[in-house]
Amino acid sequence: MIELRDVTKTFPKGKGGEFRAVDGVSLTIGRGNVFGIVGHSGAGKSTLLRLVNHLEEPTSGSVLVDGRDLGALDARELREVRRSIGMVFQQFNLFRSRTVLGNVAYPLRLAGASRAEARERAEEVLRFVGLQEQARRWPEQLSGGQRQRVGIARALATSPDVLLCDEATSALDPQTTREVLELLRRVNDELGVTIVLITHEMDVVRSLCDHVAVMADGRVVETGGVHDVFARPEHPVTEAFVRSALHDLPEGPALDRLRARHPGRLVTVPVGADASASDELSRLLREHRVDFRIAHAGVGEVQGRPLGSVTLELRGAEGDVDACVARLADREAERGKVGAR
Ligand SMILES: Nc1ncnc2c1ncn2[C@@H]1O[C@H](COP(=O)(O)OP(=O)(O)OP(=O)(O)O)[C@@H](O)[C@H]1O
Ligand SMILES: [Mg+2]
Repeated sequence: MIELRDVTKTFPKGKGGEFRAVDGVSLTIGRGNVFGIVGHSGAGKSTLLRLVNHLEEPTSGSVLVDGRDLGALDARELREVRRSIGMVFQQFNLFRSRTVLGNVAYPLRLAGASRAEARERAEEVLRFVGLQEQARRWPEQLSGGQRQRVGIARALATSPDVLLCDEATSALDPQTTREVLELLRRVNDELGVTIVLITHEMDVVRSLCDHVAVMADGRVVETGGVHDVFARPEHPVTEAFVRSALHDLPEGPALDRLRARHPGRLVTVPVGADASASDELSRLLREHRVDFRIAHAGVGEVQGRPLGSVTLELRGAEGDVDACVARLADREAERGKVGAR
């Protein structure tokens, strides 16, 4: 549906210098995907998204939407492609001087629909997002979550194939965030709209996306299926984002406190759909007559499958624990298996 081929976007900086906001990015987003883009502030996420609907022109490389190279289109063709791409913003960007209905009808009027047609379609989309009762109200009379649903309704009014969401839930509280994510899930499931969603919260990726790309310094440092990336993050930036959502490994002061509470040997065992690591640990403990106490656990679901890890304090005769840990250490190099901490 969307393809970026070696796309770079530079902005002028200082005395004749330039800054690469997006740096040699190649990315393919399939039709019907819910594709998350994560990265820290300044990583280039918004610039990347703006390249997809040609609000920014690439300095080099090309952007293809539904097989059409945006750089090769004339103004009329470009308008047509843009109409097939809706956009949702963090700050909703609603017109304060238009009613809810007026906001949603606006892109339809721009696209040439009659007043009556625009109104009918706007009412239909407002029903889809659950705001039909609010049609005559003004944006400032609505809660943040309702405003964002209006933003989504407006983006959907022209029946786009693609919805681009730039931090659509970042201004919302956790409960409202869940409601908006639930709505986006329906947009994808029921309308078949491809969604590209920027966020700095890996939890959003985990609950909504099927694919993810991680950006750092203008580059895509890692990309893949959400479960795969969560199970085996390769880049340190990805690893940190994954940990922030799984909460499965204690770190820093929390790890120090955990060690103080559990002076014995600690081992971490991954928990996933494949229970072999956990079975293996259980067998080893039995063989060596070693007992355990649970020190830390962070296990949840990613794309409907369990993922996370449990950290155990081993308890038993010192020689037995040592033997157990030695056997575990043999496997530690093998990533994703039981490891001594
Ligand atoms: N029009 C512009 N002119 C100059 N520099 C720009 C422009 N747009 C973006 N940049 C710079 O490019 C870099 C990437 O910006 P971008 O907004 O894409 O990051 P982001 O990942 O969306 O960050 P955030 O999470 O804070 O929204 C930043 O350092 C920003 O200052
Ligand atoms: Mg941004």
